[in-house]
Amino acid sequence: MPIAITAANEVSPDVDVVAAPVFSDLNMSGGDLDVGYCRERGFSGKAGETLVTRGANGTTGVVLGLGDPAKLTGEVLRLAAAGFVRAAWRNRAGVFTLPDLRGSVSPFEAAKAVAEGALLAGHIFDPYKASSEPCELESLFVRAPGVDEGVLAAGVQRGSTVARGVLLARDLVNEPAGAMTPRRLAEVATQVATEAGLGVEVWDEVRIGAECLGGLAGVAAGSDEPARLIRLSYEPGGAGPNVPKVALVGKGITFDSGGLSLKSAEGMMTMKTDMSGAAAVLGAMSVLRDLEVGVRVIGIMPTTENMPGGRATKPGDVLTTRNGKTIEVLNTDAEGRLVLADGLALAVEASPAAIVDLATLTGACVAALGRRIAGVMGNNDELIAQVGAAAERSGEKTWPLPLPAEYRKQVDSEIADMKNIGEPGQAGALVAGLILAEFVGDVPWAHLDIAGPARSYEDDGYLHKGGTGFGVRTLIELLSTFEPVG
Ligand code: BES
Ligand code: ZN
Ligand code: ZN
Repeated sequence: MPIAITAANEVSPDVDVVAAPVFSDLNMSGGDLDVGYCRERGFSGKAGETLVTRGANGTTGVVLGLGDPAKLTGEVLRLAAAGFVRAAWRNRAGVFTLPDLRGSVSPFEAAKAVAEGALLAGHIFDPYKASSEPCELESLFVRAPGVDEGVLAAGVQRGSTVARGVLLARDLVNEPAGAMTPRRLAEVATQVATEAGLGVEVWDEVRIGAECLGGLAGVAAGSDEPARLIRLSYEPGGAGPNVPKVALVGKGITFDSGGLSLKSAEGMMTMKTDMSGAAAVLGAMSVLRDLEVGVRVIGIMPTTENMPGGRATKPGDVLTTRNGKTIEVLNTDAEGRLVLADGLALAVEASPAAIVDLATLTGACVAALGRRIAGVMGNNDELIAQVGAAAERSGEKTWPLPLPAEYRKQVDSEIADMKNIGEPGQAGALVAGLILAEFVGDVPWAHLDIAGPARSYEDDGYLHKGGTGFGVRTLIELLSTFEPVG
């Protein structure tokens, strides 16, 4: 069970663990922190530090560093709440008193961040373990004396809902590829859509062929598992005709073996993660109604395995995509751009005000930005800025990368409109982005390469080893504040 988080300025008497968030001056409001005790144990109040102590009346105390008060952000509180839940793993009921926010973060944002950090840290993926040690914390009270409880409650509720979307994405990614096949993903999406008040349509392999999704069909050709094209739609309540529509497209490769351009054993160990873009789209869309998001949204998830079977697409083969453009496949491991070509072309047909795609697209993006930061590219600087700002507010890290027109010739093909790879070792993330750009027409478009941050290799803060659900928070924030761009 997820931790039940409630806003309550009255502390329940059966609380058995108490959070004491403090800035680096160790000057706690309320003031019963034993500063000498903390310092002796090497606790200096730096952001991210935790120190477990004995609290009053047999409770456990968890001192949480918040760092410099001038640098307080929602992310600092999210990490503090995560540190608290990790320290309180075996307790039952906790209380987290917000620090003096000194105007840098609103009480609503603070309560939201604490709920997110606590719920994300408290969830582990354990259905395949005979013995697991799930978080035993049943309830968490968030309080801030002097702050309207209604404001706190609204923040807690929003944070809890956002976390639910992130955790759905994580769980989908963490399922083994043998279980989370394209057919299973389509089933889950259908079920989630029904519960979340979304429209849903699933195209099977026959329809995929009939609809000329040659990129998706070409990638699926080497697999015994049939591909699916999943399409979700969200209509806000009482929306008039002028409400803008945003299209989300997510790469849904449930397993990327590389195809005939087979990956190494090492390289494919984590490739069940290659559906993280699709999982982020589904995770975000699953909570749009509960968050009362005011724009129309469609979600397109081309999903397939990439396998080297006897009918697999061969290096040198040419695929014809949904918009008629042809791609010469010279490396079958560069398959994400092939399925996204069709997904983006379908998105364009819906005449959206903007398209945002998410994909674990290139190892080159991991080389450039590492495992914590997603690359953002696109054809519209205003939209790219909006996505970047939404990511920043949500606590997800992104960085803009260019799409230089002079690199387009890297993908000129001898026999087709383009080939699917550029020069080895040169700007692989940008070349992939330039290929995607061929399929969005004039629609404002932003592309998030999440190959790095989609998976975590450590238990750290509110992340656990495995899928991170990266992108869900950015998408929710973007859709909640979306402004059409020129
Ligand atoms: N799914 C991979 C990208 C990836 C790599 C994601 C590492 C996460 C971690 C993608 O399909 C791929 O294999 N891309 C190739 C492209 C290359 C052949 C041009 C890559 O990045 O090596
Ligand atoms: Zn690949
Ligand atoms: Zn891939």
